[in-house]
Amino acid sequence: MEKTLVIFKPSAMERGYVGQILTRFQQKGLIIAGMKMMQLDENILREHYAHLVDKSFFPLLLSAMMASPVIVMCLKGKDAVNVVRLMTGATNGREALPGTIRGDFSCSNQENIIHASSSAEDAKAEIKRFFSENEIFDWMPQNLKFTYSSIEME
Ligand code: TYD
Repeated sequence: MEKTLVIFKPSAMERGYVGQILTRFQQKGLIIAGMKMMQLDENILREHYAHLVDKSFFPLLLSAMMASPVIVMCLKGKDAVNVVRLMTGATNGREALPGTIRGDFSCSNQENIIHASSSAEDAKAEIKRFFSENEIFDWMPQNLKFTYSSIEME
């Protein structure tokens, strides 16, 4: 099963949406493999958003991501990276489709509620960046056969 990383950004923390969003992931059938609260700093954000450090909005992005503690979460499931990205929606909350997390909880390009890994390769690097090995749990819920068919579980 694939793993992906989600960050509940300060916009989710401040506006009190962690519970509602976590419920969506659990309703979908994604498995929580790791979860913790932390305060991000400039070092980890420069690594995490390395593809954006030269953008004019980067200083604003840094302060937005450090504005409060965040919750980082590792979710597990079949094709979890793609499933969570589809649930997340487009970067800009004003363009994200209704029904997606950003489409339903955000009207901003920056204050867009959650981060979700954008590829399987990124997910592996991001999980390592935010979690130590003993913080990721390889448990499987007992009722998984009601979430996936036996063929999908192979
Ligand atoms: P990016 O990796 O392009 O998008 P996504 O989060 O959908 O994978 O951008 C990372 C974050 O940078 C994005 O979630 C919010 C912020 N951002 C801005 O503040 N302004 C912008 O114009 C863009 C593209 C991103």
